[in-house]
Amino acid sequence: MKEVQERIERHIDAISKFTATPGKGTTRLTYSKEDLQARSYIKEKMKEYGLQVQEDGFGNIFGKLEGTLKDAPSVLIGSHFDSVPNGGAYDGPAGVVAALEVAGLFYKNQLTPKYPLEVIALVEEEGTRFGGGLMGSRGIVGLLSEEEFKNLKDKEGISTEEAMEKIGLNSSLPKKRDPKTIKAFLEMHIEQGPILEEKNIPIGVVESIVGITLLEVTVTGQAGHAGTTPMDHRSDALVTAAKIIAQLPELAIGEEDGTVITTGRLNVFPNGANVIPEKTVFTVDIRSGKDENVLNVIEKVKELVMSYSENGIHTAVEQLLYIKPKDMNQDIITLLKNKCEVLEIPYCSINSGAGHDAMVFSDFTDAAMLFIPSKNGLSHCPEEWSDSRHMEYAVNILYEVIKRLTEVE
Ligand code: GLV
Ligand code: MN
Ligand code: MN
Repeated sequence: MKEVQERIERHIDAISKFTATPGKGTTRLTYSKEDLQARSYIKEKMKEYGLQVQEDGFGNIFGKLEGTLKDAPSVLIGSHFDSVPNGGAYDGPAGVVAALEVAGLFYKNQLTPKYPLEVIALVEEEGTRFGGGLMGSRGIVGLLSEEEFKNLKDKEGISTEEAMEKIGLNSSLPKKRDPKTIKAFLEMHIEQGPILEEKNIPIGVVESIVGITLLEVTVTGQAGHAGTTPMDHRSDALVTAAKIIAQLPELAIGEEDGTVITTGRLNVFPNGANVIPEKTVFTVDIRSGKDENVLNVIEKVKELVMSYSENGIHTAVEQLLYIKPKDMNQDIITLLKNKCEVLEIPYCSINSGAGHDAMVFSDFTDAAMLFIPSKNGLSHCPEEWSDSRHMEYAVNILYEVIKRLTEVE
């Protein structure tokens, strides 16, 4: 087995151990103990590869290889290192590990670029702890203000700043970054779907990323005794939520163009077996490659939800995230494809149904992504797995492209 491939496996294995749910997949919440453990590992590897390590006021990690040009913008490469609840070992960390190994090749070959290279490891892409998602990248480009960041709380009511402090992070460090300091952003990610595996192609060059909206619906009724309250005297928040959720799939199916809708989180209050639910809070995730599909479905969901605000039930909708579909940079796509051809690595174009930090960066700099196959197309679950051989291909392609973008002499 090749050296780089072995290192990739060691990194993935090491980072996967930092989970709050051992034996039940990866659960690594932003600013948790497991975040701190993964963070320490990533920072240590950055230093081993000769990078200067820094964190920002969100806890994003940057490992920089200086360039020879004064004050030149950096080529960024990386991904996120948080996870969904009981997720896999690859969604996010695979991209951080690939970025580390690209820097490892620069180090091994003693390359000095003109433009700086920065390996980045981003926080809270999944939004598992603070909602919304893409927090680290939105923060860097200024789409999340200092005020908005401070006001975010997890479900225990712990604020971002309090949580950062608990693991020794400094939220008063600089946050927003001037886009002029960024020349490009590249991200390798697992596909999280079945296409590459079915085609037996190891590399997908991403053309575009779906638009994503996340709504949070709150249904409020009246708590009461499950045994003594007659059926016609109830304002049951869960029964209403169930009626709404059951109608959501039709809204996406009716929209067509591959539009999808998901309720993945539902909280019931007070959540007692013999108490009529007083309140339910659930998410509605809407995605499509076409913005108009997403906008239409948002309106339909709002109408549907509001139509249940009657007979002792109150309903409300809050929009936690709205991000349009994004195209990746054509020049870098061409460069990536050319390098695949030179290295004789089979590739195809692909669109992403998952959200990625690259879609945030794409409005501020030239952004591009590579996908590698996911075993059985599975992701966001403990079974998530990708082949380190495919990751090594991606590292070799990215290494060549980044040499070009950073103008290595
Ligand atoms: C991230 O995994 C997303 O697509 O929600
Ligand atoms: Mn994910
Ligand atoms: Mn991801």
